[in-house]
Amino acid sequence: MSNYEKQYQWASEQPEAFWGEQAKSIAWYKAPTKMLENDDNGIERWFVDGTLNTAYLALDYHCEQGRGDNIALIYDSPVTLTKRQYSYSMLRDQVAQTAGMLANFGIEKGDRVVIYMPMIPEAAIAMLACARLGAIHSVVFGGFASNELAVRLEDAEPKLLLTASCGIEIDKVLPYKPLVDKAVMESRWKPEKVCVLQRSQCPAELNQERDADWLSELEKATPHDCVPVLATDPLYILYTSGTTGKPKGVVRDNGGHAVAMKYSMSAIYDIPQNGVFWAASDVGWVVGHSYIVYAPLIHGCTSIMFEGKPVRTPDPGAFWRVCAEYQVDALFSAPTAFRAIKKEDPQGNLIGQYDLSKLKTIFMAGERLDPPTLEWVEQHTDKPVVDHWWQTETGWAIAANPTGLETLPIKPGSSTKPVPGYHVQILDELGEIAPANQQGYVAIKRPLPPSCLPTIWRNHDRFESGYLSQFEGYYVSGDGGCIDDDGYLFIMGRIDDVINVAGHRLSTGEMEEIVGAHPAVAECAVVGIHDELKGQLPMGLVVLKDGVDTNDEQLKAQLIAEVRNKIGAVACFKEAHVVDRLPKTRSGKILRRVIRQIADGEQYVVPSTIDDPQSLGEIEAVLQND
Ligand code: COA
Ligand code: AMP
Repeated sequence: MSNYEKQYQWASEQPEAFWGEQAKSIAWYKAPTKMLENDDNGIERWFVDGTLNTAYLALDYHCEQGRGDNIALIYDSPVTLTKRQYSYSMLRDQVAQTAGMLANFGIEKGDRVVIYMPMIPEAAIAMLACARLGAIHSVVFGGFASNELAVRLEDAEPKLLLTASCGIEIDKVLPYKPLVDKAVMESRWKPEKVCVLQRSQCPAELNQERDADWLSELEKATPHDCVPVLATDPLYILYTSGTTGKPKGVVRDNGGHAVAMKYSMSAIYDIPQNGVFWAASDVGWVVGHSYIVYAPLIHGCTSIMFEGKPVRTPDPGAFWRVCAEYQVDALFSAPTAFRAIKKEDPQGNLIGQYDLSKLKTIFMAGERLDPPTLEWVEQHTDKPVVDHWWQTETGWAIAANPTGLETLPIKPGSSTKPVPGYHVQILDELGEIAPANQQGYVAIKRPLPPSCLPTIWRNHDRFESGYLSQFEGYYVSGDGGCIDDDGYLFIMGRIDDVINVAGHRLSTGEMEEIVGAHPAVAECAVVGIHDELKGQLPMGLVVLKDGVDTNDEQLKAQLIAEVRNKIGAVACFKEAHVVDRLPKTRSGKILRRVIRQIADGEQYVVPSTIDDPQSLGEIEAVLQND
């Protein structure tokens, strides 16, 4: 039996023994004696009686082990022309001081703190400072509009909001403070304080009553110690798109998360403790939480925080420049980033200008890794490229090529095999296990391994109904796919109203709510259509109310502006068409899949349940003419 198979079998057959062994690799205050127990909701919880502190594991522990001078975090910002390095002891001191500042604001264990910040070290420091106090952070991606921030404030009910005066996107300075002020005004929940880190590119005006200046508050603070928490206490809430306008607050606990993070650094990424790991993502996404902040630091290696883009900061050689400059061992990003590089440097000319000898593997996730991108990156870098599949809900890979256990042969289009701990099965409509190669619901047999969500913040019913109740004993991922004869998993895409735009998870249901709220719109459908660069882009079809006299072009511009205004630029909603009717089943369900197939120019079968087959021809005509 191969090493991977041995571990996989052990984790499947004896999950408690397997994870009990992995749990020994982190420094608990009190090691757990109960590995797996159901909570009051009947949800499996890991390491229930263990106590720890995640920030201690990420920083203090390494300093105590004599690694205080090692580099923990490198900040590289081509947009501000800044480079900064933090040793473990420097980062620990800054986090302790920031935790003291939070404590001065009255933050205690269990309190929520919302963090709305760009890719600067203070964002990671703020997350770790919350963890140090046992407070629960909720990071909101800087590309989201004020409405999205307001929705999250209402749901998380934070005492404090931490922000910066601006973000910087390639050549634009984006003032954050007006967005924050609007969000706080719109939200029914008001944080007691808004603490602002002033950036010289665009200092913000502070409201004397409510706002505080980060640096002055930091100066007044004294370092705060790590507060022990239970393994099952939440470390963070991260909101992710579901099928409606209300995002889901994925809850991550401390203990299971720390153990899974540590395990993944060796088993999946094969990183030595003194290695350099670079997740070119954003702290606002789960990849940033897990692999910019927590996993590399818990493991003890160097993490890179890059405030830039794969292209135009300043050129498509940015990734290779950073890999060479910091001797990166493993690079992790979304396929869309590499498609952007490929578009601007098709021959990969810039790759050859950098010394990539240290770079061992390139990991990709966030969306399906299309075979042409895989091939291009492999060919031009001469490095193995590993696709791995995961979700905000799990916090780490469900399926991967476990390079630290054994590198399995790569099959283009597949995220390889389930990671030890995940029992992935393909189910049909009835919940029966589908035969090999047959597509169905990608589900994970419970118990889920450590780090997976135990609930949706303050909405356990949504966790049950959205993931657990469809097939008893399974977690349903929301993705469709199949497993081939060799046990390789192929993820084919979402089977719900979630789309992936440039590796960003967005809800078409939410876009439909915004478009449908326009006074001229009777009904609408938003679907994700194929895009060469971003993987998918949203496209809307709208039916006007009878008697509405409107200019179609003006209406489209208003809809596009409204989605940008409500969700943010990152939604990339730039295409809307006016049609006479939407294709529906006789029971009134909109046939979104067929709309998508028509828009993508794919062959489609007219569903037998369709009410009005002519509507399809009309859509084809509108899309061709517009
Ligand atoms: N703050 C504010 N605005 C942001 C933002 C942020 N953090 N991130 C993106 N935006 C804005 C962009 O400025 C752009 O605005 P515009 O319409 O005014 O030009 C819009 O949102 C769309 O951004 P994006 O989809 O990122 O497009 P892009 O053309 O700027 O860049 C890529 C394209 C492929 C280079 C970029 O999307 C990328 O690097 N993707 C990698 C994805 C990733 O890291 N995913 C995380 C999972 S691993
Ligand atoms: P997020 O929660 O933002 O990480 O998005 C999770 C979703 O992104 C998954 O449910 C998939 O639809 C998609 N996804 C992530 N990684 C992959 C991958 N390697 N292959 C295919 N789809 C992926």
